[in-house]
Amino acid sequence: MTDSLEALRGEVLERIQQANSVKELEQLRVEALGRSGSLTLLLRGLKDLPAEERPRMGERLNQLRRELELELDGHLATVNQEAKAKALAEEKIDITLPGTRFERGHSHPLTLVIDEIVEIFSTMGFEIARGPDIEDDDHNFEALNIPKDHPARDMQDTFFVAGGNLLRTHTSPVQIRTMESRKPPLQVIVPGAVYRHDDDATHSPMFHQVEGFMVDSNIAFSDLKGVLTHVLRQIFHRDAGVRFRPSFFPFTEPSAEIDIQCVICGGGGTLRNGQVCRVCKASGWLEILGAGMIDPAVFKFVGYDPEEFTGFAFGMGVERIAMLKYGIDDIRLFFQNDLRFLRQFN
Ligand code: PHE
Repeated sequence: MTDSLEALRGEVLERIQQANSVKELEQLRVEALGRSGSLTLLLRGLKDLPAEERPRMGERLNQLRRELELELDGHLATVNQEAKAKALAEEKIDITLPGTRFERGHSHPLTLVIDEIVEIFSTMGFEIARGPDIEDDDHNFEALNIPKDHPARDMQDTFFVAGGNLLRTHTSPVQIRTMESRKPPLQVIVPGAVYRHDDDATHSPMFHQVEGFMVDSNIAFSDLKGVLTHVLRQIFHRDAGVRFRPSFFPFTEPSAEIDIQCVICGGGGTLRNGQVCRVCKASGWLEILGAGMIDPAVFKFVGYDPEEFTGFAFGMGVERIAMLKYGIDDIRLFFQNDLRFLRQFN
């Protein structure tokens, strides 16, 4: 019996050492120490031994039982620890590793300029109005004092759409739409897309304007001058020279074109290297705005009494302002969506 005891001890201890999972160890525990385990069977066999051997044998068997239990528990702890360490190592995330960055979009340069212009007018109390890109002849021309046979229609190459409508050639029809539905006082700007049959380095078939108008009982040309001088100096340079030249629009009388001192040469007409400034064609001035006092004929179209109300209106080209602000010499760059161009405005 002593021999089989030693053999059993050696075998179980070795299997414990080799076991590397909780499951294996639990199985070993059952096989050796369970109710019909090998050691349990030996303990049961004690009763067949001669009485004088029983105490010694019994003690040895109990010793072995404790030894094996200790071994099993010890190895179980080791296996558990190893499994935990392995799981931790496998699931480890290096939070110091730089993440994959998403590329963030940003506003288009034209949106930046429109936002800036809108912001300047908002602080002066102007509200924003919008109108449809597809207009009817009445709003785009007729109500703006441009009758069918008027030569001013030649100023704008119009895109017509089915049904006699057209793509608005300017934002001025929104003056009409606003005045038709509301009464003065009005202080409104209209940013939006406009369309003309024109396509070269400085003209695009679709471009943007910001229209504006102010109507009340006592609006004078001096209000026009004050507001637009302030706005242009905000957009470009606070000391920039501003010049008002007589001009003509069918829907304003008197009318003016407004120039700002050239932002490229500073107004001198020549560059620092002595060459003539090509942006202002050596004149030192850049035409930026069309404006004027709203023609009484327009007020009659919308049902305002020209004896009671006066007002001024203006329109500016967003692309032109953006080109001058950022030194861009081809309008098509705005619409080609070349990321190398657009990324510079981030
Ligand atoms: N609508 C004119 C244009 O597109 C600009 C303008 C607006 C002029 C308002 C005077 C008053 O050229």
